[in-house]
Amino acid sequence: MHKLSIYNIYTIFIFGGLKYRHVDLSKKSGKRGKMGDFPESIHLRGKRVSFVIDTRGRTPSVLYWGKLLRQQSSTDVLPLLATRQEAKCAAVDEPPLSLTPTLGQGFTGTPGIELISDNQAWSTCGDIIHVEQENQHSALIKSLDKHRNILVVHYLNLDPQTDVLALSTEIVNQGDSQVVVNSCVAATLPLPASMTELTAFEGRWAQEFHRYSLSRFLGSFVRENRKGKTSHDSFPGLLVHEKHTSEIQGPCYGFHLGWSGNHKILCEQLSDGRAYVQLSELLLPGEVKLEANESYRSPTLYASFSDQGFNEMSANYHQYVRQHLLREHINKTPRPVHYNTWEGIYFDHDTATLAELAKKAAALGVERFVLDDGWFKGRRGDFAGLGDWVVDKAIYPEGLQPLIDQVLAQDLAFGIWFEPEMVNPDSDLYRAHPDWVLSTKGNKQLTYRNQLVLDLTRREVSEYLYQAIDAILAEYPDISYIKWDMNRDINHAGDGFGAPAIRQQTFAVYALIEKLRTAHPHVDIESCSSGGGRVDFGILAHTDRVWTSDSNDALDRLAIQRGCSYFFPSSIMGAHVGPKDCHITGRRVSIEMRAAVAMFGHMGIEMDPRDLDEHEQQVLADAIALHKKHRELIHSGGLVRLEGAENEVRFGIVSENKSKALYSYNLLAETLRYAPDKFNFVGLNPDVSYQLDLIWPSKVKEYSTSVLSVVDGQVFAGEALIEFGLQLPILDPQSALIFELTQIN
Ligand code: DGJ
Repeated sequence: MHKLSIYNIYTIFIFGGLKYRHVDLSKKSGKRGKMGDFPESIHLRGKRVSFVIDTRGRTPSVLYWGKLLRQQSSTDVLPLLATRQEAKCAAVDEPPLSLTPTLGQGFTGTPGIELISDNQAWSTCGDIIHVEQENQHSALIKSLDKHRNILVVHYLNLDPQTDVLALSTEIVNQGDSQVVVNSCVAATLPLPASMTELTAFEGRWAQEFHRYSLSRFLGSFVRENRKGKTSHDSFPGLLVHEKHTSEIQGPCYGFHLGWSGNHKILCEQLSDGRAYVQLSELLLPGEVKLEANESYRSPTLYASFSDQGFNEMSANYHQYVRQHLLREHINKTPRPVHYNTWEGIYFDHDTATLAELAKKAAALGVERFVLDDGWFKGRRGDFAGLGDWVVDKAIYPEGLQPLIDQVLAQDLAFGIWFEPEMVNPDSDLYRAHPDWVLSTKGNKQLTYRNQLVLDLTRREVSEYLYQAIDAILAEYPDISYIKWDMNRDINHAGDGFGAPAIRQQTFAVYALIEKLRTAHPHVDIESCSSGGGRVDFGILAHTDRVWTSDSNDALDRLAIQRGCSYFFPSSIMGAHVGPKDCHITGRRVSIEMRAAVAMFGHMGIEMDPRDLDEHEQQVLADAIALHKKHRELIHSGGLVRLEGAENEVRFGIVSENKSKALYSYNLLAETLRYAPDKFNFVGLNPDVSYQLDLIWPSKVKEYSTSVLSVVDGQVFAGEALIEFGLQLPILDPQSALIFELTQIN
């Protein structure tokens, strides 16, 4: 044991056989004591994961992040094992890859902070002055640059239940002169050499969460998002893994920035052999200026390691969302099946029609009616009305109550649409306050769905919105759901002073939602942004569900929902059965297939139910009943994404004790071979037996008599179902099968 020097030790605490000292070195005028006078490493332990921080150098760095290290000796020797020698024609002391690498320390990769001040903040580098480890799961490290009076604080948390790391970094200006923050990454996380593959996310409106893969290369892989919202096309997430990592095996790392504004993702390979990932808020020039004692804290990076493939990594994230982001009542209550009016009637509102839609929807088993865009003053199309959040007396002469009453009479809950952050120039609000929008001097606003973005950083604007929404909720206390939409990029993000304001705007949106949630805790809120334009852990901490995509095309939805599932559980993913001919893609997909896909999210329907023929009504009613029967499992079980051919999508949901499971097989296009491959029910318990039931669709259109007729209702050993698998039948393209597996011994 090292000798402890008395004067710099505040506390000594012991856990798991490890001795960690809680020290404050600021008392020593920034000078570190001899080796051994303070903790040399911090070991955060999860269930299956260790995260070890090296605190021996000037700045903290990640020593190890991977499988749980059980023995104290393992962490003790890591620094020795990690010793790097002087390389040829290189600095004698290699600048470390710290949590926040700095130019001040001579780091030649991408710095973790970029600052400007008249006190040389650009070359800052602190020294660790304070290390605090409250328990085995969280720590805080302070590093002070006493020459420039800049304090950097690292917040580190490894969630013991889910193994998800939550990391963020704060900069405090302790000097007198202003410090401009150009960037501050949430953390810099080194990658083992074997982690050569990147899987990133791309897409566009109505095609969110598509994955693409590439191998790491010398230099930087960079994705930057300046759309002022999370965006459809650049989801702030990244997977890094080995070549042979799959859904069910191999090591992988997941990274997600919980932030609904601009962001940057970077994965860099240095020529010295080291590689790392950084995620950060992307700040516009001059967006953050710190006066004396002001601070900037980065959004949180949620990172997850699994040595058993992507499914386990996703399971960690799913559990994290349920346990730490969603409100308790949301997890406890079954998610009601929705009817959303948008693709049924668009702006064509009228109480009698809407009441009829509610009646028809209720007959199908729907439980919540959501009145979409078009109910407020002047909103006869997308060209006017945004901002005027009062009921349009032209269509609702007696207000919304008559409609609400008729909806409630059908035993449906009532929800309503808002797009609070926006204003149409053709609105009373804009006519009264044309200066309330975000804009930049001398630049023409880009036209975008006829709407401009309100400057929520102005207190009077946020207050106006709060009052307007609160008044509707107060007048109609039966409203128990808000669909909160946001339908344009923020291209001209200048506030009233012309300063860039995406960061403050994002906080203002969070604050407004939170204020409303506090005043109306029974109102659930959905985050919608033309579909999946604002889906991230930041907004999810303030909302209860997301609208995954504007595309209700079941075939496209399979890929979108699958991509989304890497980070988000099915319970928060809005998934609707759309009209027969998809309004976005024009594709006609059978009602059986549409229902089979929507069933695995937070299910809803979005069409004109008056158009449904008898067969469609029956299928939809059956699907909704089936979803209700299994929604507890669907919304709380473990997702098992399975590999399959390119023309198909396979997955399962398995209960925690593996006694129940649903598996879904979706055929998108014709198979290349005469018959499809077998279906292996990975995720079941091999040691028990299961009854296998085909529960969807009720009638399968087959080419000739298939395996289905002989296996339905039979009992099989889990082992056989997993290892041997089930020969799938030859189906028409655009068909889906759902199997239920029930443990019988
Ligand atoms: C975009 C949303 O994603 C749609 O579901 C719908 O609410 C429209 N906006 C309404 O304008």
